Amino acid sequence: MTDKGFTLWFTGLSGSGKSTLAQYLTPKLLELGKRVEVLDGDEVRENLSKGLGFSKEDRDTNIRRIGYVANMLSRNGVVSITAAISPYSALRREIRDLTQASFVEVYVECPLEVVEERDTKGLYKKARQGIIKNFTGISDPYEVPERAEVTVNTAEESIEESAEKILAYLRSEGLVPA
Ligand code: ADX
Repeated sequence: MTDKGFTLWFTGLSGSGKSTLAQYLTPKLLELGKRVEVLDGDEVRENLSKGLGFSKEDRDTNIRRIGYVANMLSRNGVVSITAAISPYSALRREIRDLTQASFVEVYVECPLEVVEERDTKGLYKKARQGIIKNFTGISDPYEVPERAEVTVNTAEESIEESAEKILAYLRSEGLVPA
């Protein structure tokens, strides 16, 4: 059981709560005896994807790199949690198809008004002002997942509730102990 790796692929707008949920779930999965790595969007862009921008081509490259590493880890028994916007359905599908371990897509839903109001990094304001171009949700697309294994709504649920939804799914699939 402990050696069963999988990819927990978060997708959602900037500020929706992907990284927060990934950080919140990590110790819980460790307690359940899993090995865990988090591939966080911002962190990956500082390292693995340094130099990439936000054109469709660069985003696709970024997602392919994250998917490649997540697959290598998860097929070796690690829980790979990814937290990148990953706005394009086709790319998420591509990564799902190449992943050799279980692939659990989690749509972190949160209305644009709410993430814009939160504006944790001050980027939505800049995107509205046109200072940042091609900003997801404002001037660049976000394709809502149609068949995510789990959907959480961070505008309506507490972090505990969202995390519990995800853990319940993982238990039901036998990916973590009951
Ligand atoms: S992805 O589209 O390639 O999946 P990723 O998750 O790595 O995106 O990076 C998104 C983060 O980069 C955002 O949370 C935000 O902090 C920052 N960012 C800077 N410019 C943009 C932009 N044009 N669109 C979206 N996010 C941006």
